[in-house]
Amino acid sequence: MSNQKFATNALHAGHDTTQTAGTRAVPIYQSTSYVFNNTDHAANLFSLAELGFIYTRLNNPTNQILQDRLAAVEGGVGAVVFASGTSAISTGLLTLLRAGDHIVASSSLYGGTYNLLNVTLPRLGITTTFVDASDPSNFAAAVQDNTRAFFVESLGNPKLDVLDLKGISKEAKAAQVPFIVDNTVATPGLLNPIEHGANLVIHSLTKYIGGQGNSLGGAIIDAGTFDWANGKFPEFTEPSAGYHGLVYHEALGAAAFTFKLILEGLRDFGGALSPFNAFQILQGLETLPVRIKQHSENALALAEWLESRDEVAWVNYPGLKSSEYNDLAKEYLPKGQSGIVTFGVKGGFEAAKQLTDATQIFSLLANIGDTKSLIIHPASTTHQQLNEEQQESAGVTQDLIRLSVGLEDIEDLKADLEQAFASIG
Ligand SMILES: Cc1ncc(COP(=O)(O)O)c(C=O)c1O
Repeated sequence: MSNQKFATNALHAGHDTTQTAGTRAVPIYQSTSYVFNNTDHAANLFSLAELGFIYTRLNNPTNQILQDRLAAVEGGVGAVVFASGTSAISTGLLTLLRAGDHIVASSSLYGGTYNLLNVTLPRLGITTTFVDASDPSNFAAAVQDNTRAFFVESLGNPKLDVLDLKGISKEAKAAQVPFIVDNTVATPGLLNPIEHGANLVIHSLTKYIGGQGNSLGGAIIDAGTFDWANGKFPEFTEPSAGYHGLVYHEALGAAAFTFKLILEGLRDFGGALSPFNAFQILQGLETLPVRIKQHSENALALAEWLESRDEVAWVNYPGLKSSEYNDLAKEYLPKGQSGIVTFGVKGGFEAAKQLTDATQIFSLLANIGDTKSLIIHPASTTHQQLNEEQQESAGVTQDLIRLSVGLEDIEDLKADLEQAFASIG
C-alpha cells in the first residue's frame, strides 16, 4: 500500500522504471509466455516458492503494473484485472461461491449484473435475493444460513442511488460475509469503498478509468480485510484440490483471495486482460483525477439546466438539492457525483425515444464514462429484457433517458439538447 495521494498514485504506483529499461511510459509486454531459467526455476514458480511470470492468462508485467496501481488508488492489498467488468464480476463470484450458496444484492444494479445474478447463476445453484438497498436492515433481513456475499453498486447504474455503505458493511460483518462493492460509476477519484467497510471492490475499467471508450477491462481489488477462516469458506482453509493442496488462508493470509482469483479464477475461466488494453487503461487512469472532476462539474451544471426546462418531467442527479440521495452524496461523494444524469421527458416512452434520436453531439450508444457525451433510452435497450416491475426496482421508467456527460463545453451540450427538444416539439 502506498502512502502517497490519489493523483500521485494514479500516475506512478506500480511502475519501477529501473525494472523496465528506464521507460517513462509503462511498456506493453506483448508476450504470451516467459522463459524459465531452468526446470527448477519453473517448478518453483508453479509451486509459489518463488513469484514470477508463467503465462499471460495468469499474469503479465503490464497487467501487474495496472493491478498494483489499482490496489494503490483503492487502498487494497492486491488487485486482479480481467477482460471486462463482467468477467471480473462472474469470475469473482464463481471463485468465491459454490452451488447452494446465496447472495444478498441491491436491486439497483447494472442490467448485465442483474441478469447474471437473477438468471444465469441460479442455473448453477447460486441464488440471489434482491433488496431495496436504501435501508441497510433489508440486507440483514434477507440473510439465510447459506448467504456468502453482499453485492451492491456504490452509485447504482442507472438509478444513481447513493448507498449507506457504512450501514450495509455493518450488516455484512454481522452476517460474516464479504461486502462486495462495484465502484465503477463513482471511481476511486470520488469514493473509496474500502474506507467504508467494503472487502472487495469491483470495477468495469471500460468506463471512467479507461475513460476514452476504446478498451474493455475489469478489476477486483481486495481490501485484505475479510476473515476467510470464519468457518463459512472451507475452500480457503482446507487443502485445495485445484492447486496441489495449497491452503490459501494459511499460505497467503490477507492476499488469499487475490491469489485464488489468479491461480483458479483466471486459470479456469480464462478471462485475462490483453496487455494492450492494460496499457490503454493505464493511460486513462493517469488522467482520471482531473477528468472525473470535470465530468462531475459538467453533469451537475447540465442537471441544473435540465431541471429548469418545461419539457422535462423530472431530473435525477445525486448532486442536485432536489435529489433524495443528496444527503448521502454529501457524506459519500463530497468531491463530485460523477458524470451520469438521468431525466424523464414529458410524453413518456415515445418522446424519450425521439429525443434520444435527435441529439447530435451526444452519441446514442450503450456505454458510460467516455470523454465524449453519450445518450441512451434504457427501457427500449439495456433494460428491455426486464419486465416492468424489475425495470422499476432498477430505477428504469419508460420515460427515462440516461446521459453520460462528457468533457465537451457545457454550452454546446445544452445547445444540443435544446435543438433536440425543439425538433420533437
Ligand atoms: C456498474 C457496472 N458494472 C459492471 C459493468 C460491466 O462492465 P463491462 O461492460 O466492462 O463488462 C457495467 C457496464 O456497463 C457497469 O455499468
